Amino acid sequence: MTAIAPSILAADFSKLGELVREVEAGGADRIHIDVMDGHFVPNLSMGPVVVKGLRPVTRLPLEVHLMVKDPAKFVELFRKSGADSLIFHLEVLSDAGPLIRHVRSLGAKVGLAINPGTPVECLEPYLPEVDLALCMTVWPGFGGQAFLPESPDRIVALRKLINRLNPKCELEVDGGIDLATVPICARAGANVFVAGTSIFGSPSGPREATATMARIVAANQADSLAGSSVVA
Ligand code: DX5
Ligand code: ZN
Repeated sequence: MTAIAPSILAADFSKLGELVREVEAGGADRIHIDVMDGHFVPNLSMGPVVVKGLRPVTRLPLEVHLMVKDPAKFVELFRKSGADSLIFHLEVLSDAGPLIRHVRSLGAKVGLAINPGTPVECLEPYLPEVDLALCMTVWPGFGGQAFLPESPDRIVALRKLINRLNPKCELEVDGGIDLATVPICARAGANVFVAGTSIFGSPSGPREATATMARIVAANQADSLAGSSVVA
């Protein structure tokens, strides 16, 4: 299964509800909400109030990406506000195990993210326990950055680990995902695609941009397309 997760960081916040309905109509599978604390990343973004505001607007799962230094402090609040899954970064924890289990005890799905500088092998001990592994394809902190060229090799390596340790675990990519980079990621083995600028900044509008991205992903899935050329 593949999924498109529009990141609202790139949305016009004066029209947030309307834009979320548009991506839902375009076939988005979940909504990605980027939380930044000004410490783990050099930027501030949104908090639980945004999750709470969006909850009645859409039936799609709300996925919260916590780019924060102390995720344990916030998981319960986001869950209570309506988050369906909580993703936190491996870099801020000496042992991610207790927080993984705590998030699961709250009834939410659990994701573990790594920055571009963290070897994918660092995720290995936790893969059997998580629902999703997020391989950042830019340094987190800002939308609209260019996809890092080392990313496809990292995705391939992570896909191998996931297939060996927990094939049900999703492999998500986030950062610089657009119509040119999404087929590369799909063919490398990613199955969940976060996209902000390329969806909410698309001249054809977020609904059409979501539908187009979903079509390209479907045409480039790693399993079904081994050995064939990229369709864009
Ligand atoms: C980056 C965030 C991303 C970001 C992606 O720090 O985690 O989710 O919104 O934005 P684009 O798609 O514009 O690179
Ligand atoms: Zn994100």
